[in-house]
Amino acid sequence: MAEWTIQKLLNWTTEHFTEKGIDSPRLSAELLLSHILELKRIELYTQYDKSVAKPQLDKLHDLVKRAGQSEPVAYLVGKTEFYSLELDITQDCLIPRPETELLVERAIEFLRTRSDKQFVCDLCTGSGCIAVAIAKNYPAANIIATDICDAALSVAECNVEKHQLKERIKLLCGDLFDPVIPQLDVGKFDLIICNPPYVSAVEFEKLDKNVKDYEPKSALYAGTDGLDIYRRICKKAGDFLKPGAALMLEIGYAQGQAVKELLEEAQCFEKIIIEKDFHNNDRVVTAKTSK
Ligand SMILES: C[S@@+](CC[C@H](N)C(=O)[O-])C[C@H]1O[C@@H](n2cnc3c(N)ncnc32)[C@H](O)[C@@H]1O
Repeated sequence: MAEWTIQKLLNWTTEHFTEKGIDSPRLSAELLLSHILELKRIELYTQYDKSVAKPQLDKLHDLVKRAGQSEPVAYLVGKTEFYSLELDITQDCLIPRPETELLVERAIEFLRTRSDKQFVCDLCTGSGCIAVAIAKNYPAANIIATDICDAALSVAECNVEKHQLKERIKLLCGDLFDPVIPQLDVGKFDLIICNPPYVSAVEFEKLDKNVKDYEPKSALYAGTDGLDIYRRICKKAGDFLKPGAALMLEIGYAQGQAVKELLEEAQCFEKIIIEKDFHNNDRVVTAKTSK
């Protein structure tokens, strides 16, 4: 049987993924191989000529097959990178997207304009990616993060522990603001941040197979027009924000105007800004309460 070196496997898998139309074929090949061989990605290149043993080849074979059928690599290897942090991931939570890093960036910028301890609420936390990235980069942040899905919160818990943030991130299970008890928790926040489900019925049907068949529908779908969760957050957020505080929401590419109108209807925000992402799509809405 021909010898399979790391180099040969990387090249073959990259080509296979390219033919199958898998996103970022080289990166996907590197992630799978480094996962199986328990090596850092860079070590694949420093050990390029090393031959790979049969048991590991068999494991790789299985994962390559599944990835070739559009199963996301992040789920196959059980981890991903977000805001330069390694996070655990399972199929119970959405795979954090690069677009969401823009939301985190704006949140950290906002917090840095303020002083003292800052109270933050991360609704729909999923893997906890937003809460962890904020807490890691803004040491005076105290965060309550909620999600309706217990299994997703278990993943968030692993990520909070992995990054030693248990003292500053409290995870609560429930519907949006419901688990926040003003008498026990802080009642008003300096920042409320949320990347909610925002996919409409029509968009849901058109999602790529790797998203539609593998990521939780409850993390994606938000009613016929995709605005169900925004409607509820916009109505309630004012009750939970301090004066001069901010609500920051990730939005779908065509939802800027609709979400702006929902925020205006709430009549508690004085400044609403819609920002585009690196693909020039509407992506982040920031609304501030008056001082
Ligand atoms: C788009 S994902 C975002 C996850 C993570 N914040 C991120 O940016 O990758 C939406 C999350 O909202 C949660 N969710 C859906 N409906 C909810 C609700 N009514 N209350 C709280 N969480 C909800 C889902 O379980 C899912 O984890």
